[in-house]
Amino acid sequence: MRKRILSLTLLFTTLTVMETFAQKTIEILTKNTALILQTDHENSLLSTYLGKRLTDINEYPTILGLDKFKPGSDDLLNKREAYIASGSLNLLEPGLSITHADGNKSTVLSFATVEEQQVDKNRKLTSIVLKDKKYNFQVRLNYLAYYDEDVIEQWVEINHNEKSSITLNKYASANLTLSGKKFFLKSHYSGWGREMRSEEQQLLHGIKTLDSKLGTRNNLLHSSSFMVSVDQPATEDTGEVIAGSLEWSGNFRLDFETFDEYYLRITAGINNFASNYTLKPGENFITPRFVYTYSSEGKGLASRNMQNWARTYQLLEGKGERLSILNNWETTYFDFNDEKLKHLIEDTKKLGVDVFLLDDGWFGNKYPRNQANAGLGDWEYNKQKLKNGISALGKESTANGVKFGIWLEPEMVNPKSELYEKHPDWIIRQPERKEYYMRNQLVLDLTNPKVQDFIYNVVDQTFKEVPELAFIKWDCNSLIYNANSPTLKNQDHFYIEYVRGLNAVLERIRAKYPKVPMMLCAGGGTRVDYAALKYFTEFWPSDNTNPFDRIFIQWEYSYYFPSIAVDNHITDMGKQPIKFKTDVAMMGKLGYDVRVNELPEKDLLFSQNAVKLYNSFKDIIWHGDQYRLQDPYENKAASIAYVNANKEQAIIFNYYVSTIYETGIALPIKLKGLDPAKKYNIKEINLYPGTTSPIDAQKIYSGDFLMKIGFNPEVNSKRTSVILQLQAIAP
Ligand code: DGJ
Repeated sequence: MRKRILSLTLLFTTLTVMETFAQKTIEILTKNTALILQTDHENSLLSTYLGKRLTDINEYPTILGLDKFKPGSDDLLNKREAYIASGSLNLLEPGLSITHADGNKSTVLSFATVEEQQVDKNRKLTSIVLKDKKYNFQVRLNYLAYYDEDVIEQWVEINHNEKSSITLNKYASANLTLSGKKFFLKSHYSGWGREMRSEEQQLLHGIKTLDSKLGTRNNLLHSSSFMVSVDQPATEDTGEVIAGSLEWSGNFRLDFETFDEYYLRITAGINNFASNYTLKPGENFITPRFVYTYSSEGKGLASRNMQNWARTYQLLEGKGERLSILNNWETTYFDFNDEKLKHLIEDTKKLGVDVFLLDDGWFGNKYPRNQANAGLGDWEYNKQKLKNGISALGKESTANGVKFGIWLEPEMVNPKSELYEKHPDWIIRQPERKEYYMRNQLVLDLTNPKVQDFIYNVVDQTFKEVPELAFIKWDCNSLIYNANSPTLKNQDHFYIEYVRGLNAVLERIRAKYPKVPMMLCAGGGTRVDYAALKYFTEFWPSDNTNPFDRIFIQWEYSYYFPSIAVDNHITDMGKQPIKFKTDVAMMGKLGYDVRVNELPEKDLLFSQNAVKLYNSFKDIIWHGDQYRLQDPYENKAASIAYVNANKEQAIIFNYYVSTIYETGIALPIKLKGLDPAKKYNIKEINLYPGTTSPIDAQKIYSGDFLMKIGFNPEVNSKRTSVILQLQAIAP
C-alpha cells in the first residue's frame, strides 16, 4: 500500500514537472515601442505589454507579475493570450474559432517555436508557432516590426494535418490586449458624399463592433481604420494612442471588448459573417495584415507614423511623383463628343496640369453609356461620341503636350448591357430572387477565373488600344446584394474569394504595368484600405468636392493616409471663391474638374499661377511630415502644416470655417515640427490677383518662437484661406 502511494506521488510529481514550462519572453521592438509576449507556466503565449519601450530590456519579464488580475472562483477565468482560441478557457470574444475534423470545437494553443529574421536594417520579422497538442493543428503568428516608423504589421497563418478538412469559423489577423483605466475609440462612419465622419466615444463594458458585410465598397458604412486612446482621449500631442487599419478590401470586422476593470481586447480581421472557411489538410490559410502604431505623444505622432510607413512600404510609389489631372466628370457628365474632348485636352495644357482624364461615358454601342443605367461591361468606345476612338484621344493629348488617362469600372455590369446578355453566369446574383441594384448595376463574380481574365483583359486591351495611356481611374459603384457566385462550389468562401480574385487581377496588372498611376475610387471614397493601396498610387476621397466639407473630410483621412495619396479636385461644387477651393485642394494632390473655358479671366490666371506654385512646393506636401495644428471642429479656423525632412521649409494651410459672424481668429496658432534653433521667414503665397497680404514677409522668427508663441495667419470672413510658406534663412 505504502509503495503504491509512493509511486502515485512520484507519478504526480513527474506529471507536474512535465506540465511546468520555463517562461520565455519575446520582444517585438521598434524605435520607441515594445510589444512583449511571454509564455506562462502552462506554455500559453501571453501578450503582456504594448507601449513605450523600456530602457532596460531585462525588465520586460517583470511586467506580467505586476498584473494582479485574479478573479475569484465565481468569476471568469481568463488569460491575456496573444492569439485567443475558443472552446476551452476563453469565454470572451475569440480571435480564432475552429471546428476540427472530428467535429470538436475546442482549440488550445501552446507555444512551440519562435524564429526571428532581420529582413533588412529597418524590418524584423518574428514568427511564432503555436500548436494544439490534441490536434495536428497550428497557427503561425507573424509580427513584422518597422523600426524607424514605429509600426507593426501582424497576421496569422493557419494550417493543419487532421484527418479531413476543418472549418475556420473565425480567423482574425490579430488580438491586442491593452491595459488602462478607460479606453476611447475614434472611429469613422460614411455614406455617399459624407465619407469619414468621425466620432469618439468611451468604450464602456461590452463589445463595440465596426464591420462591413457589403462585399465591395467595404468602407461605405464604416472605415476599417481607427484610433484607440488609453486612460483619456488623446489630443494631437499628448496621450497614449494606437492607430490601426486592416489591410483587406472586403468584409472586415473590428471588435473592441472591454472586460473587468482594466482591459480592452481589440480583435481585427476578415469578417467571418457567412464565411465559414473550409481548410483542407496541408493547406495554409493566410489572414490579411493588421497594421498599427503606438504613440505616447498623441494622435499627431500616430498619424505621422502611419503616413511614413505607408509612403515607404505600402502605398504604390509612395516616395515617388504624381501627375496632376483635369477630369471631365463634373463638367460634362455623360454628355461629350470628340469635339468637346479636344477642347478639354487643350484646356489641360492651358491650365498647366499633366493629364486629361476622361471619365465615365466613353463606351457602349448597343447600349450606349449615356446615363448610369446602361453599357457598363461593354468596354468598346462609343462610336457616336468618339468617331476616332480613344486611341485618337491618346494621340491628341500627346500632340497637345499632355498625357491621357481613362476611367474604368471593370468589376461591374449594367443589366442593360451586352455583357449581361452574353454572360449571366459571370454575375453575382441569386437567379431565383429579385435583383437589387446599386446605381443600376450588378457586380461581376471575381471568384470566377474567367471573370478575372475578362477584367484583366479590359485593362490590358485599353493599354493596347491607347499606348500613350498614362493614368487609370478605377471605380467601383456597387456593393453586393444577393451574394452568390453561380460557379463557386462553396458559397461560404464567396466573400474571401472575391477579394482574392480582385487582388489576383491587380497583381497581374501591376506585373505588366508596374508604375502607371491608378486612382482608387468607389463611388467616392468607400474603398480606402491599405491592401488596395498596394496597387494604387492614390484615391478619390469623396464625390463631395465642396471645399468647406472637404476640409473636414481631408482632415479625417489624414489620421491614417498621407497627402500624396489623396486626390483633391477643384470643381463647381460650393459657392466659395476659386482661391479658397484651390487652397483646400492643395492640401493633397491638386487636380481640377472645371470648365476652364468658362473661368473668368482672373480666375484662370490665378489657377495657372496656382498650378505653377503648387509644383514648386508639392514635394513638401507629398513627402514632408504633416502636423495638424488647429482642429476645425473646435476652432474658427483649421490649420495644417507640412514640414520637409531637414526642417528648412514648411507650408501651412489655414482655412476659416466659422459659419456665424465672427471677427476672425484672435490668437496666434502654435506651429510644430520646426527646428527651434533655426530662423524662418514667413510669406503668404497663392494670393488672388489684385490682392495684397497683411503679413510682413521681411520679418524673421525663430523656430522656438513660432512653436512656443505661434503665428497669426489673419484668417477671417474676408480672408477665408491663407497659405503660408516658411523658409529657413541662412544663419
Ligand atoms: C463615381 C465617382 O466617384 C465619380 O468621380 C465618377 O467617376 C462617377 N462615379 C462616374 O460614374
